[in-house]
Amino acid sequence: MNNISLNSKFNLGFFPTPLHSLKNLSKKYSEYNLFIKRDDNTGLASGGNKTRKLEYLIQEALNNGCDTIITAGAQQSNHCRQTVAACAVAGLDCHLLLGGYEPEKYDGNLLLSHLLGAKIHFTGENRKGEDIESLKSELELSGKKCFVVPYGGSNFIGALGFVNAVKELKDQLAEQNLIMDYIFFASSSGGTQAGLTIGLELFDLKTKLIPINIDKEMSTISTEEIVLDLIDKGKEMFELKKNYQFKDVALVRDYDKAGYGVITENEKSTIKELARTEGILLDPVYTARAFFGMLDYLNLKKIKPNSNILFWHTGGLPANFYYADKLKGITN
Ligand SMILES: Cc1ncc(COP(=O)(O)O)c(C=O)c1O
Repeated sequence: MNNISLNSKFNLGFFPTPLHSLKNLSKKYSEYNLFIKRDDNTGLASGGNKTRKLEYLIQEALNNGCDTIITAGAQQSNHCRQTVAACAVAGLDCHLLLGGYEPEKYDGNLLLSHLLGAKIHFTGENRKGEDIESLKSELELSGKKCFVVPYGGSNFIGALGFVNAVKELKDQLAEQNLIMDYIFFASSSGGTQAGLTIGLELFDLKTKLIPINIDKEMSTISTEEIVLDLIDKGKEMFELKKNYQFKDVALVRDYDKAGYGVITENEKSTIKELARTEGILLDPVYTARAFFGMLDYLNLKKIKPNSNILFWHTGGLPANFYYADKLKGITN
């Protein structure tokens, strides 16, 4: 880990992403001051939080002399779409292992991954990258040097993208003469959350994170355990002092009951609300669920009045097209 640093990254995106007030929505939720961090504008094939992680992961692959990236995800994975785009920029081959069976029609992120040049393997019921090692062996036999990017890009190297993001935020807050009391965001594979947690301590910001869980726990290891493990690595690298426990990184699990990618009235009404007050599009799987959670917190007055609240928009726009049939019922 010694040769890894916050400066060791391959430029892929447009940074800093804008940080601005949600003026119209703040009028409606008038006891609060609402802001948004626009990681839907990170560039790299329509943006999203993975650009930050991939800057570090791709650099690491290049440092190791690799010519091929392998990663896995759902067919509508934003992570996979952005990974293929990053590979295109860096001149690397990209193999995606996508759960399920090949659909007749390619749409949303799957279509974009295809356009971006992914070598796609549909892996049926093996939905969590179980086939990565066998594909890697096969490719290495044919002379390729492979670098495996974990699910969601959420290892320590990927998380560095969000450690660095806190530095970016701190500079913007200083420029705008602002303090942020809370950050709400969508948390799933844990890398974003771990990076933000490490970054807040490292750059000495007192902001409280409120990670909204997106998918019901499927594996035996919880996201909190993954986040704590990543934070441990961060403590070692950055010599952090704080001791983190499960409760310090606990995700909010009040909004995930429908399951991953199941679009409910909550997500639909939230997409509509933000689109029609601020002209900003959320995605139906991650950011609308998290934004709904934030609005629910405000409606239930779980947050102190007059707080400054930041929603960290983590992208995901292309999924709207895949879910078009479910979303088109949004009429008023
Ligand atoms: C749009 C979007 N937001 C949030 C997340 C969650 O980020 P993380 O996996 O780092 O928890 C993802 C992960 O795929 C995502 O695609």
